[in-house]
Amino acid sequence: MKLRNTPPEQMEHMPFFPHSFWDIDFQLANIAESAPPGKFDLIHTRFVLTHLTDPLLALEHIRAALRAGGTVVLEDIDFRGYFCYPDSAALWRFVHLYTETASHRGMDANIGPRLPSLLADAGFQNIQMNIVQPSGIDGEVKLITALTMENIADAVIAEGLATAEEIEKIVAELYAYARAPGTVACMPRVFEAWATQPA
Ligand SMILES: C[S@@+](CC[C@H](N)C(=O)[O-])C[C@H]1O[C@@H](n2cnc3c(N)ncnc32)[C@H](O)[C@@H]1O
Repeated sequence: MKLRNTPPEQMEHMPFFPHSFWDIDFQLANIAESAPPGKFDLIHTRFVLTHLTDPLLALEHIRAALRAGGTVVLEDIDFRGYFCYPDSAALWRFVHLYTETASHRGMDANIGPRLPSLLADAGFQNIQMNIVQPSGIDGEVKLITALTMENIADAVIAEGLATAEEIEKIVAELYAYARAPGTVACMPRVFEAWATQPA
């Protein structure tokens, strides 16, 4: 996708890009295979490293694409941070199925706290971190768990961890929990870690 040549009338339908950001090229690249071409001042990934079987290699590719002194910013999940009130057996079953399916496929649903050490192993400097966790008693955040369970159903079944019938029941319970007034829902705990490319 290339915004650079997008006609101004179409830009009006993209309010999420401030004017100063309109001169942007979008390019497709596989960070697991090679460094993206070019030298960047800033590279940011969110919820990407958790999907990779070798996140350290991806960080080495990111480092190769950063200019000296450039900054990398990572955000990724830690499924162990889930909470709810009142208690929901369906939520804990979802957390288990998501984590196990990822693990079966060589991925880490709890990669968040590993981010600082991965950055160190990849050779970055000035490493820092923070935690955020979207949560609430109303709004879109309450739907993310049920939506995610629906979207991972095929993968969970393919790994032999649950049947379609069980998943259908869990999804229905997660939606019922989300729609019940006052129930507390959240996303996974999100680790943010950032560092610089040595000069
Ligand atoms: C859960 S989505 C997160 C999307 C977005 N970054 C966000 O925070 O909403 C995971 C993203 O990782 C990307 N991804 C997975 N493997 C990748 C790879 N090997 N190279 C580049 N991107 C990858 C997918 O294309 C997808 O956009």
